[in-house]
Amino acid sequence: MKKILVTGGAGFIGSNLIRMMLSEHEGYEVVNLDVLSYSGNLENLTGCEGDPRYSFIKGDVSEPDTAASAIEGCDAVLHLAAESHVDRSITGPRPFVVANTLGTQTLLEAWRQAQGGEGAPFVYISTDEVYGSLPLENPEVRFTEDSPIVPSSVYSASKAAGDHLAHAYHHTYGMDVRITRCSNNFGPYQFPEKVIPLFVTNLMEGRKVPLYGDGLNVRDWIHVDDHARGILATLERGKAGEVYNLGSDNERSNLELTHMILDIMGTGKDMIEHVEDRLGHDRRYAIDSSKAQRELGWQAERSAWPDGLEKTVQWYRDNEEWWRRVKSGAYREYYEKQYGVR
Ligand code: NAD
Ligand code: TYD
Repeated sequence: MKKILVTGGAGFIGSNLIRMMLSEHEGYEVVNLDVLSYSGNLENLTGCEGDPRYSFIKGDVSEPDTAASAIEGCDAVLHLAAESHVDRSITGPRPFVVANTLGTQTLLEAWRQAQGGEGAPFVYISTDEVYGSLPLENPEVRFTEDSPIVPSSVYSASKAAGDHLAHAYHHTYGMDVRITRCSNNFGPYQFPEKVIPLFVTNLMEGRKVPLYGDGLNVRDWIHVDDHARGILATLERGKAGEVYNLGSDNERSNLELTHMILDIMGTGKDMIEHVEDRLGHDRRYAIDSSKAQRELGWQAERSAWPDGLEKTVQWYRDNEEWWRRVKSGAYREYYEKQYGVR
C-alpha cells in the first residue's frame, strides 16, 4: 500500500482524482490536505469519508508546519492545491502568488527536508496556460514540453513560478520532481465559475450566459478523469525531472462550445449575452501530448465530444442540489460586479 499526499483534494480535479484512486486502484492510501478555500468543498468527496484508506487534513500548503506534518509517512505527493480561476486573479492577484508560488515552494521544501537526496516522487500539477497564448492564425502550431514559458495572466504566472521552483528543486537538490501540464478540464464537481458549469447552471436558472469578447478564443477540452489518469500515469511511470503535456485534441472556440451547450439544453441563441472581453484574454491553447503517449502509455479516452459534454451537462442536471448550494450569493455578487451580469 502506498500512502499518497494529495493537496487540493476537495477541489474539482482533486476530488475526482481521489475518487478514482480509491475506487479504481487498490494500492493507494490517500491523505487529502486542503485549506477549504471558496472552491474547496468536502461535499465533492461524499462517499469517500468512510473509506479506511482516506483521511483529511484541513490546512494551508503555504504554512511550513502544516506542510511538514501532512507529508509525514507519505510515499509520494500529488500537488494540486491552488487558486485556479483566471478572472479572480485579475481582480485579486495576491492570493494566487501566496497559494500557487509560495505554497508550492513550501511543500517542496518540506518534502526535501523529510526525504533528503532524490527522495520519492513529487508531482506538480501545472497547466498548459504557463505556455501563454497561441495565435488563431496557425492552427497546426501546438505547445510541446519545450515551448517557452511565457504566461500572460497572474494565475498562469503564479503557476509558472511554481513550475520553475519544481524544476529548480530537481536541478539543485536532485529531487524526484515531475510536472504535468494539462489543458482545460470538464466534468462533475467543477466550481460553477468556470465556463461549462457556469453556462449550464445559468441556463437551468433561466439566466443568460456571458460570452466574453468575440467568443473566438480556443481551448482544448479534456475530461477530468483523463487528467486524473494522466497524473497517476506520471506517478507510476514518469521520470524524475520530466514534464508531460496532457491534452485531448479537442479544440473548440468558446462560441462553438456555447452553441453546443445551448443545443444540449434545448435553448435558443438569444440566451447568449455578449459581454466585454476578459483583460489580457489568452487567444488559444493547444497541446501536443505525444510525449505522454510515448513515455507514459497515456492518452485521453473519456474526453470525446459530443458524448463527454452531454454526460457532463446531464451530471449538472442530476445534481442540482450540489451546485445550488455552491452557487452562493457571495459568488453571484462577484460576477455581477465584474461583468455586469445578473
Ligand atoms: P479548484 O479551485 O476546483 O480546487 C483547488 C483546491 O485547492 C480547492 O479545494 C482549494 O480549497 C484548495 N486550495 C487552494 N489554496 C490552498 C492552500 N493554500 N492550501 C491547501 N489547499 C488549497 O481547482 P481545480 O480546477 O481542481 O485545479 C486543481 C489544480 O489543477 C490546480 O493546481 C490547477 O492549476 C490545475 N489545473 C487545472 C485545470 C483546469 O482546467 N481546472 C487544468 C490544468 C491544471
Ligand atoms: P475558464 O473556464 O475560466 O477557463 P480558462 O480561463 O482557464 O481557460 O474559461 C474558458 C474560456 O471561456 C475562456 O476563453 C474564457 C471564456 N469565458 C467566457 O466567455 N465567459 C465566462 O463567463 C467564463 C467564466 C469564461
